[in-house]
Amino acid sequence: MSATLISDIKTTFKDKFNAEPLLIFSPGRINIIGEHTDYNDGFVFPAAIDKGIAAAIQKSDNAVCVAHAVNMDETIEFSLDALKPSKEGSWENYVLGVVAELQNRNKTVGNFNIAFVGDIPSGAGMSSSAALENSVVYGLNELFDLGLTKEEMIFISQKAEHNYVGVNCGIMDQYASMFGIEDHALLLDCRSIEAKPYKIDFENHELMLINTNVKHSLSDSAYNDRRSACENISSLLNVKALRDATKADLETIKDQVSPENYQKALYVIEENERAENASKAMEAGDINLLGELIYSSHNGLSKQYKVSCEELDFLVDQAKESNYVTGARMMGGGFGGCTINLIEKGKAAAFETKVSKAYKEKFNKDCSVYSVKLSDGTKVVN
Ligand code: GLA
Repeated sequence: MSATLISDIKTTFKDKFNAEPLLIFSPGRINIIGEHTDYNDGFVFPAAIDKGIAAAIQKSDNAVCVAHAVNMDETIEFSLDALKPSKEGSWENYVLGVVAELQNRNKTVGNFNIAFVGDIPSGAGMSSSAALENSVVYGLNELFDLGLTKEEMIFISQKAEHNYVGVNCGIMDQYASMFGIEDHALLLDCRSIEAKPYKIDFENHELMLINTNVKHSLSDSAYNDRRSACENISSLLNVKALRDATKADLETIKDQVSPENYQKALYVIEENERAENASKAMEAGDINLLGELIYSSHNGLSKQYKVSCEELDFLVDQAKESNYVTGARMMGGGFGGCTINLIEKGKAAAFETKVSKAYKEKFNKDCSVYSVKLSDGTKVVN
């Protein structure tokens, strides 16, 4: 968590609203493995990171609420009794959506001012959206004594994304951002919403992110389409979610689904197994197995689930060519954003040099490399 980010947002808030704010830091996340399994009630393996959203928030006596996004240098005013979604793709919907979901649950919030700033590039697949939603719900819960549990808060954040942003996301991002534990990744069962923390201190390896710096359009509709395809197959199989299906079950309906959707469901069943196997590999300290599972995850995301893109595939191929990268895959929803790499300690600089050059030559644009620190979840930082 960046101390400068927090002190900057405090100053911005005081300058703009002339009041002492409550300060919240809400982190983004990485995900080691278990992609597109969350909305199938399966397993994911995320961790909160030291990058995210710093928000300053306080009650207001004015007739409207004001929200200021520092990164965009945009300010909006809105009335609590006339909430409606703003234009598609705007940051405003994350804020408005959370307030609307609180109202849907008959939680009374009064007028407030909020300013926020983030250090996660949007579209990086590191959940700046969940971080923002969580910062808003957490701040409002504190300010207006709403008595919400953290679990209730993450479902409010998720619903905001469904109803105001239009992405029918699972619960991974909001969970990881809210419940993160320093130095740990969380093996989360997305059905029971119970997680087992794993201390991440590989003997000879570390995690490294590489951002393609692209986000292809239509990713939201592609995401929702995949979720529907999974749900349709679950109904055909007469199970609650694909988490309950085996590969043998899937065979029984193979002729009733398109080959593309068969592959997608197969991917989900296999990825769910991989996430559980990854936790076992970690327990056994088997870094090579963990790496293989991560590479297989990418293969499935790219070839079966079809949520990768040329830039992500290129970065993973670069990793495969470098024998010191034990595993690499695209991370998050896909169609751009980052790869996560499990790399031997001491090799990050060499890999960065190699990949940056190759990526620039191939796509005539830069990729960005981040090292991350696994961190605590959403909290007050005054
Ligand atoms: C996005 C969604 C998550 C999850 C991932 C894919 O980040 O918000 O709920 O589905 O994609 O694993």
